[in-house]
Amino acid sequence: MIKRSLLYLLLLAFVLAGCGSGEHKTSAKTILLKEVFGNDFLIGAAVSREQLAQKDRVGAGLLPHFNALTPENIMKSERLMSAWQTYHFSAADSLVAYCQNNNIILNGHTLIWHSQMPPFIEQIRSIDSFRTFFTSHIKTVAGRYAGKLQSWDVVNEALNEDGSLRQSVYYQKLGENYISEAFRLAEQADPHAELYYNDYNNEMPAKRAGCIKLIKKMQAEGIKINGVGIQGHWHVGKLPLKEIEESILEYAALGIKLAITELDIEVLPRNFTGAEISQRMKADPATNPYVGSLPDSVKQQQAKDYADLFSLFLKHKDKISRVTFWGVHDGQSWLNDWPVPGRTNHPLLFDRDGKPKPAFYSILTTKP
Ligand code: XIL
Repeated sequence: MIKRSLLYLLLLAFVLAGCGSGEHKTSAKTILLKEVFGNDFLIGAAVSREQLAQKDRVGAGLLPHFNALTPENIMKSERLMSAWQTYHFSAADSLVAYCQNNNIILNGHTLIWHSQMPPFIEQIRSIDSFRTFFTSHIKTVAGRYAGKLQSWDVVNEALNEDGSLRQSVYYQKLGENYISEAFRLAEQADPHAELYYNDYNNEMPAKRAGCIKLIKKMQAEGIKINGVGIQGHWHVGKLPLKEIEESILEYAALGIKLAITELDIEVLPRNFTGAEISQRMKADPATNPYVGSLPDSVKQQQAKDYADLFSLFLKHKDKISRVTFWGVHDGQSWLNDWPVPGRTNHPLLFDRDGKPKPAFYSILTTKP
């Protein structure tokens, strides 16, 4: 019998040679990512409202590849609430029902984050009112879905690049203990959910050290923290593989789980790293070179990068709980509009038509 990895290798060669576009559609339909990696770690994607509503048909059609979903925006405070105690749960309720009906693991994203908040939060003056909002938000949202989600990104992006705590509105109003407090409230509201701290660049040494310090502090205080998420917004040809592996080992040594929570490998130039969504770059046509299509050389580099990553993830699969892509296909990716609106980025495994790219086949070849 032909070995599975050999079969994948042949498929990859076939695609790189540019043969049979019809064929790879069929192959990708029959090879589901969750069937390939399902015994190693959960394999997830960020899902959009448009996909759930079948408005993005390409994306909706690819969801069967994944056994875990994270709402791309649906559970952010900006979407859940418009004013003090005024919640709008219908989209989040539909997502929870969709996951329950289709046997999909759901990760909640995110309870406490300084971005994508309804404007009233920053206008709250009194510390007492702010604390009331903070407590009631976690209780209301985590409580509503208690027992229905597997995990929560309780706090998102609380660290600066040097590992110190970000001076967010939460820090300014509540002091550094707000992070422990958020985890404590999340545990009370949903005792069975796994609780994660999530950030970008927390694989890089200085920020990683800050992240480890934060986790150790919570552990010393007896706070329940189950895992850390490395977002994984990386750039083609520039993967920090050494730092990623060090991080896998160092976070695992804390006795917690590690998830790659927002994986994408972008191909467009950027003059900074990370994923701070308020950071912007000047629009310039020279930074948008792949409007028509992605050149083969870049496709191949991206395929190699994804394969390197998945080889590393498989090597440490006992320490990795989940690998989630930040979107399903290139047309959905947030990187088309950030840090410059209206560019054409190509960061995911499936192109705008939902066709698997060489990166799709390359990760299959990493399976022993
Ligand atoms: C992004 C979404 O993908 C976009 O649709 C939205 O406009 C901005 O936020 N880090 C995170 C994610 O934790 O929630 C962000 O998602 C990307 C960076």
